[in-house]
Amino acid sequence: MEQLNNYINTHKDRFINELIELLKIPSISADPAYSTDVLETAKTVKKSLEDAGCDNTEICETKGYPVVYGDKIIDPNLPTVLVYGHYDVQPPDPMNLWDSPPFEPVIKKTDLHPDGAIFARGACDDKGQFFMHVKAVEFMIKNNQLPCNVKFMIEGEEEVGSDSLEDFLKENKEKFKNDIILISDTGMISNHTPSITTGLRGLSYVQVEVTGANRDLHSGIYGGAAPNPINVLAKMIASLHDENNRITIPGFYDKVEIISDEERAEMAKAPFNLEAYKKALDIDDVHGEKGYTTTERFGIRPTLDVNGIWGGYTGEGAKTVIASKAYAKISMRLVPNQDWHEITDLFTKYFTSLAPKSVKVKVTPHHGGQAYVTPIDSDGYQAASKAMETTFGKTPVPQRTGGSIPIVALFENVFDSKTILLGFGLDSDAIHSPNEHFGVWNFLKGIETIPYFYKYYTEMAKG
Ligand code: BES
Ligand code: MN
Ligand code: MN
Repeated sequence: MEQLNNYINTHKDRFINELIELLKIPSISADPAYSTDVLETAKTVKKSLEDAGCDNTEICETKGYPVVYGDKIIDPNLPTVLVYGHYDVQPPDPMNLWDSPPFEPVIKKTDLHPDGAIFARGACDDKGQFFMHVKAVEFMIKNNQLPCNVKFMIEGEEEVGSDSLEDFLKENKEKFKNDIILISDTGMISNHTPSITTGLRGLSYVQVEVTGANRDLHSGIYGGAAPNPINVLAKMIASLHDENNRITIPGFYDKVEIISDEERAEMAKAPFNLEAYKKALDIDDVHGEKGYTTTERFGIRPTLDVNGIWGGYTGEGAKTVIASKAYAKISMRLVPNQDWHEITDLFTKYFTSLAPKSVKVKVTPHHGGQAYVTPIDSDGYQAASKAMETTFGKTPVPQRTGGSIPIVALFENVFDSKTILLGFGLDSDAIHSPNEHFGVWNFLKGIETIPYFYKYYTEMAKG
């Protein structure tokens, strides 16, 4: 593509500096203390769309944090690409494990990122990744290379479940109408092995509360005679998996998509090195459902994990006490055909039934979403594949990932369009963890690849 590499080379320092400015604002959607920062970020994103040459930029109110819109409609008869991303980020804790402050971005070299990586909360998830689209569109607009229409939907509540987006989408269907949705909010296998995400898991997230006596008790006076909610909760959680690490909730697997041996064999061709996987995590063995490989365990199988558990005395030293209450936060990652509302109900019924009469149990659903699988024979997938082939010199591998972007399944219902998950992050980029980072090479490679997607997609869609 004419001028593309030149444009990136000339402007890359500015691109990086603009991203750094965006990363300085702590847009933590989970914590109300940061609400002004989240709103400030939305304004900065709107401005960046304007600067890129977009028209009709707007901060659209929702029940929660706003959605940022911008478009460039060159001809209503041409196809329209909708770019989705999120400007909110995960909380940075635990703070003491960051080598540099999460909202003071720095560029440092790593083994996997010899050209340097930007270290900051949101660098990869998702500010760095959606910003590649802003810069790619800037290139196309400023150089008259935009072959079709583009619309942006950058939201501010993805990390807390996109609660306001469903109603917002339904009310603004016409505004966001599109032919294909393009998202960079996932990863690829490695910088030498490009891949395109073809599946996201669904999610059901719940909190459980187990209550014993009406107050905390002396563990000597009452121990052994009164119920201990922490002991009970631990046992209840332990019984949610059997000896083969299968989930014991009745009906949990009933609707799980059955994948043929041929398909499993095809999926197994994607490069994956178990030894490197264990080494990267510093574990001597992996753990998961019997009868499935590691890539299947995170790609095509549902799971249940405790994300947090608390209760009783956790301060310095020892306190002899039997707590009145114990809590846990539990996530279930779901696969195609499992309905998250139904799974939440099955969990609630079963979990409640596990409790002995001595305690009371409360299950509070948080949020969820359906799984999503995108076909590889669509124009969108083929265009993305050709784009990566052009800039990486290799055909990307289709791969299902374990993460979730709950809104994607809804997009298909509301717009009847496919979503293409063209991500440039690496699993080792530490999203949601301390020291999150995004390779400078990856950032620039994304900006280089995206314009080819538009070119090939428009050619294909025109037939
Ligand atoms: N970008 C991630 C999802 C992701 C990351 C998918 C890497 C595939 C590979 C997204 O921001 C995220 O963190 N989603 C949450 C769900 C949400 C409801 C909190 C998740 O997967 O836990
Ligand atoms: Mn994300
Ligand atoms: Mn995330």
